Amino acid sequence: NGEMRAWNGEVHEVLSPVCIRTEKGLERKLIGTYPLCSEKEADEALQAAVAAYNNGRGEWPTMSVADRIHCVEQFTHKIIEKKAIVVKLLMWEIGKSYADSVKEFDRTVEYIYATIDALKDLDRQSSKFSIEQGIVAQIRRSPLGVVLCMGPFNYPLNETFTTLIPALIMGNTLLFKPPKHGTLLHYPLLEAFRDCFPKGVVNTIYGRGNKIIPDLMKSGQINVLTLIGSSKVANELKKLHPKVNRLRAILGLDAKNAAIITAKADINLAVQETVLGSLSFNGQRCTALKIVFIHRSLADVFLKELSAAVAELKFGMPWETGVSLTPLPEPQKPAYLKDCIADAVAKGAKIVNDNGGDSCESFVYPAIVYPVNKHMKLYTEEQFGPVIPVVPFDDLEETIQYLIDSTHGQQVSIFSNDDEEIAALIDPLVNQVSRVNINCQCQRGPDVFPFTGRKDSAEGTLSVIDALRSFSIRSLVATKLNESNKH
Ligand code: G3H
Repeated sequence: NGEMRAWNGEVHEVLSPVCIRTEKGLERKLIGTYPLCSEKEADEALQAAVAAYNNGRGEWPTMSVADRIHCVEQFTHKIIEKKAIVVKLLMWEIGKSYADSVKEFDRTVEYIYATIDALKDLDRQSSKFSIEQGIVAQIRRSPLGVVLCMGPFNYPLNETFTTLIPALIMGNTLLFKPPKHGTLLHYPLLEAFRDCFPKGVVNTIYGRGNKIIPDLMKSGQINVLTLIGSSKVANELKKLHPKVNRLRAILGLDAKNAAIITAKADINLAVQETVLGSLSFNGQRCTALKIVFIHRSLADVFLKELSAAVAELKFGMPWETGVSLTPLPEPQKPAYLKDCIADAVAKGAKIVNDNGGDSCESFVYPAIVYPVNKHMKLYTEEQFGPVIPVVPFDDLEETIQYLIDSTHGQQVSIFSNDDEEIAALIDPLVNQVSRVNINCQCQRGPDVFPFTGRKDSAEGTLSVIDALRSFSIRSLVATKLNESNKH
């Protein structure tokens, strides 16, 4: 509600994935603390958002589009001034390389400007009148109410803002909880929120999600839930809302994107894109390639070249030049990945590359695991880390069946140099996932393209223009044309 609350209650200690050597060995470095608010404080923030919305009569939801845009522009100027510290915190808090941290920041700013441009277009369309059957109508877009916004740890700034900014600019009021790993980096931005928006429009809460979020959902005062995270959490939260049919959910969830490398693929290209797709930010992207199907006739050469390409990647601290493999922020992740690899090995697979799966505290060296089959965890679970499960196939039907059976439906990549083969695959694939990539890795961008998924992978659509639509409703002001009604 426009105030920084002083806090002397419970705090969370932020342990960086970047380790230091101590008497006990390598340990995660303590880089800061943040307050954990109670259910009561979270409710106060919610009431501030409810009051600022004031059933659609508040200053923000009734403000002109031009004025709302002006506030967001001011906000953007202020956050640009904070770039250096936010980039530094991205490196220390989530272990993202310097180059990728800068990219995340710049992409966020570009996204905000693209959103502003898209809203100007949308607003121009709203100023036109439609006349049908003697009814003249102005069709516009109106806000939905109070939005609870939660972003992910892997893009704590960018993916948070891809929901927060469109929700805000469309006139909604917000309750925003940063991800557990990736909270400190939002601190430098709080003043910008306070200075650029009316009181109560953006309310940031720090805390343990499982402690403070359930009551917010149970209150029935949240109109929109937006979360980039796990489908399990999203489903649990939705169920808590007393009138779930009145809740709009805009969700970016789990994915197990597959690469399908056919017998007619360009192997060098497939290797290059597999490395990028599977290991950028250590495989911690919802869009990452999380399973690779290789035609059996090419398996040996593919595994050899893939291992060689992985060995070329530089492993190190986020600020080191040219580094692409960095420490992992989730403390439990190394043990989880080890367990997945051990499960596959126990069921007959091998680690193909030298040092694959070796780990030390927060570091895990990428593992290429082959041959993976449907009895292994790596076949179905979203590992979200630096492990590349490779599955041999004889008939392309096997790969289509994998997608049909999967609970996920975000993207797929096909590698083939045969146009007819690709053409025959497109319909079967695009009817299972929301994006088919031909001879390239899976990814979210460019950000103007729709970003969504089928099955458990998403609800609603993001991207610049789609997000503006997602966080608003089409409404119209209509009047009948007749002699006594000429205004
Ligand atoms: O983690 C999920 C993100 O949407 C991935 O985005 O493909 O641009 O890395 P990206």
